[in-house]
Order: sequence, then structure tokens, then C-alpha cells
Amino acid sequence: MKWLSKVFASIVIVALLVAGTMYWLGSRDGTLVASSMPDGDASDAIIARGKYLAQIGNCVGCHTAVDTPEFSGGSALKTEFGTFFAPNITPDPQHGIGRWTADDFWHALHNGKRPNGALLYPAFPYQSYSHLSRADTDAIFSYLKTLPASDRQAPPHDLQAPFNMRFLLAFWRALYFRPADAVAHTEESDDPIVRGRHLVEGVAHCAECHTPRGSLGGMDQNRPLQGGKMPDGIWYAPALTGDQDGGLDAWSTQDIADLLLTGGSVHGFVVGPMSEALRGVQYLNQRDVSDIALYLKSLPAAGLKTESSGNVNDTLYSMGREIYGQYCAACHQADGKGVPQAWPALDGNSLVKGQDVTGLLRVIMDGGFTPTTAKTPQPYGMPPFRHFLNDMQIAAAATYIRNTWGNKSGGVDQRRVNRVRNID
Ligand code: HEC
Ligand code: HEC
Ligand code: HEC
Repeated sequence: MKWLSKVFASIVIVALLVAGTMYWLGSRDGTLVASSMPDGDASDAIIARGKYLAQIGNCVGCHTAVDTPEFSGGSALKTEFGTFFAPNITPDPQHGIGRWTADDFWHALHNGKRPNGALLYPAFPYQSYSHLSRADTDAIFSYLKTLPASDRQAPPHDLQAPFNMRFLLAFWRALYFRPADAVAHTEESDDPIVRGRHLVEGVAHCAECHTPRGSLGGMDQNRPLQGGKMPDGIWYAPALTGDQDGGLDAWSTQDIADLLLTGGSVHGFVVGPMSEALRGVQYLNQRDVSDIALYLKSLPAAGLKTESSGNVNDTLYSMGREIYGQYCAACHQADGKGVPQAWPALDGNSLVKGQDVTGLLRVIMDGGFTPTTAKTPQPYGMPPFRHFLNDMQIAAAATYIRNTWGNKSGGVDQRRVNRVRNID
């Protein structure tokens, strides 16, 4: 039996080596880039730049809870691994980041680590922020330092085992995270595509939602911006690649800019989690929004194929035509063209035509308000039809709008509606 214990010992040694290598891979840091402000003094221009970056990256959205001071810690962020609470990042020395240096701050955004070396959870989108240049993290840090300190303490995360063990993040990071090449971003580029890419990958963190994720929640870097399911099980962030099926092929740069600045375009209005991103991107300046749009339009088609949904059932379709005429046409119009700035067009609407109907069915059930932004201050509302139309009637309305005017996207059956009705 001696050989058996030898085999066993070898397996243990190999396993330890693999685990050790993965731990080492997952704990590595990127090259430290020196501060852009060696004397630590930020000019007003740098602070203003930091404020702008924090604004378009919507740091406040996660780091502020209702009725509490800005940046003093966030409200519950629910994920499939448990609930996160973004910490206080005001200059309070005890509960905030008052004792941090600009190097510490860079380290957190670039390498996803606390000053004491503790690994940060990727619920903080540092896979994206890692792409920020040192000058940009210094600017954000300088801005945060001008905020009033708050001694509010965010609640601890409430995570299921084993996700509550921080050190295990090293293994996750070995699989999914490499600090970005910071040296490549030290010089600011004048090329709109390079600038657009830098914004999309970095501070605007578009990939966090628009790139599909693997089973452990890591972004699939082989399918960048090719569309991803949101953790709520309801919404789908469509592909931003040049695909005809589900991508931005039919979108002009103006359409993209309209959506990012006002929450609506001829292809539809923002209704789901994109409104979270909109809280930030609505403040993009003209040059940046235009560079983002040019970059997205430069992305080639990824060869995505929309799954063909169910056949169109004639009975449901005619029932849907009546429901539409009675309950929907007053706003969306009989020709499905809507009214600009008020009621979204459903003809050619990407949510209506989308491959995943969950979000579409939820809008019909729950209604919603058009996003309010600085440029579109007055919201328009859609009433909820959840208690007013039964599953069959909602399936009928959805089938009708998916297969009328220029839309040819297949039917929706009532079992599907029933499943969506019960997601909470
Ligand atoms: C999607 C939500 C989300 C957004 C957007 C976000 N954060 Fe966070 N942030 C978090 C969470 C959650 C943590 C806690 C991570 C942990 O405990 O490991 C965190 C942690 C941090 C930390 C570490 C603080 C500490 O005490 O450990 C810093 C610094 C930080 N965020 C800064 C920012 C900045 C700057 C921005 C905007 C550019 C930003 N965050 C945007 C969710 C977010
Ligand atoms: C009172 C006017 C009104 C009525 C009636 C109405 N809607 Fe809407 N609808 C809106 C508004 C406003 C929005 C934008 C909501 C948002 O952005 O959250 C909207 C959004 C939508 C969307 C999402 C489109 C997008 O681009 O965001 C769909 C799909 C939709 N409505 C279908 C219907 C159907 C089907 C009916 C009838 C059963 C209906 N609506 C009745 C006003 C209305
Ligand atoms: C918090 C997650 C999230 C972030 C961050 C995010 N998006 Fe979205 N986005 C979505 C979701 C979900 C939708 C579809 C439904 C909705 O929410 O309106 C969407 C819709 C869109 C659409 C409409 C596409 C279509 O075919 O209908 C565009 C364009 C878009 N996003 C661009 C961007 C860009 C550019 C960024 C970065 C600046 C970004 N998004 C950041 C979640 C997000």
C-alpha cells in the first residue's frame, strides 16, 4: 500500500502548488504609476475634473443611501452572492478614507485592494476602474477630499458562505482579474476612438453590465460588450457591438448620444437598470459623449444570433390588436411611432424586438416613468397593467407589438408571462 500513499502525497503536493500559484496570481498588483501631483496639491481645475469623473462614473449612486450625506455609504446592493453595502468614502478618518494617501486610492481603484492589502469585492467595479489613468484617480481623490466628512458607518456586507471570506477572492481574481496596463494610459490621447474606449472601459464601466458573466460572476473577456443578463433575473443589457441582431448596427452616433444624455432615442427609452448608469452619463460633455458613440460604432459585429422566439399565434395576435387599440395606442399611437420626447416609439424599439422578453413583459406589467435628466426634467408615465390584464392578454399585447409595423420578432405565450409575473 506504500505506492498508494505516494500517489496520494503527490496529489496533495500538486493541489497545493496549483492553489499557491492561483493565490499568487490573484494577489498580484499592477505596476505602480507615480502620482500626477508629486507635491500633493490639487488645483481647482484638477478638483473640477475629479468631480466630473465621479459624476459620470456615478460613484454617488452606489456610495450613498437614501437621506444620508453624499458618499457616506450606500444602500443595499443585492447580488446572487448576497448583499453589499458600499462603504463611506468621505474624508472621515475613522469611517471614511480620511487617512488614505493618493497612492492608497490608486491602489484601490487600480488593483482592487485596501491599504492593508485586503482584497476588495468586484461589486465595486474595479475591473473597470483599473483602466483609469493615475491622473484621473488623483483627480477623483482630490475631489473626494473636498467633501464634508461624515462619520456614518455603512452596514457590513451580508454574504452567504463561502463568499464572506475575503481571502478567497484571490482565486476569483486569478480567473477573472488582471490590473490594466496603467502605463499605456499615462499620455492622454487625442484620437476620439482611443478616448471613447478609455471612457467606456474605465470610469463609465459600461462592460460591468453589457459584458456577459460566467458562473462565478466574472466578466467573460472573450465576449466584450456582447450583452449580459442582469443579476435581478429580469433585465438584459443588450449588445453594444455592431450586430444587426441585438446590437447597435441600426443606431447612429447621434442616437447613442441622445440615449446617454436624455435617456431616450428613436430606438426607445431607458426603462431598467440603464437608468442607474444614466444618473451619471447624462453629465458627459459633448466631446466625451461623441467619442463614446464613435468608439461604440467602431466595434465590429460579433456574429450574434437572436434566438427565434415562439411562433405567432393568430388568436393571440388579433386579441393583441384590440388590446393595443384600446389601452396602448393613445400614447404609443396606432402606427407605433409614439410621440418624440414623450411616448416612446414601439416600431423598431430594441426592447420590444429584443431576444429576451422578460424586461418587455415587466414594463407592460409595471409601467414606469421616462428618466428625468437635466435635459429632460419632466417625466412621462406609463400605468401598470399587472392587475388589469391577465397573462393571456399581456401575451397578446406583447405578441402584437413584436410582430407589427417593421417588427418581426416572434410570439410570446402566456406561460412565459406567468413566469415573469412571479419573479420578485
Ligand atoms: C456598482 C456600485 C459601485 C460603484 C458604481 C462604485 N462603487 Fe466604490 N465600492 C462599492 C462596493 C460594494 C465597495 C465595497 C467593496 C468591498 O467591501 O470589498 C466599494 C468600495 C470602494 C472603495 C474602497 C473603500 C474601503 O474603505 O475599502 C473605494 C475607494 C471606492 N469604492 C471608490 C469608488 C469611486 C471613486 C467610485 C466612482 C468612480 C465608485 N467607488 C463607484 C460599490 C461601488
Ligand atoms: C399613458 C400613456 C401610456 C399608455 C396608455 C401605455 N404606455 Fe407604454 N409607455 C409609456 C411611457 C411614458 C413609456 C416610457 C416608460 C419608461 O421610460 O420607463 C412607455 C414604455 C413602454 C414600453 C418600453 C419601451 C421603451 O423604449 O422604453 C413598452 C414595451 C410599452 N410602453 C408598451 C405598452 C403597451 C403594450 C401598452 C398597452 C397595454 C402601453 N405601453 C400603454 C406610456 C404609455
Ligand atoms: C448598471 C448596468 C448598466 C450600465 C453600467 C450601463 N448599461 Fe446600458 N443598459 C443596461 C440595461 C439593463 C439596458 C436595457 C434596458 C434598460 O435598462 O433600459 C441598457 C441599454 C443600453 C442601450 C440601448 C441598447 C438597445 O439596444 O436598446 C445602450 C446604447 C446602452 N445601454 C449603452 C450603455 C453605455 C454606452 C454604457 C456606459 C457609458 C452603459 N450602457 C452602461 C445596463 C447598463
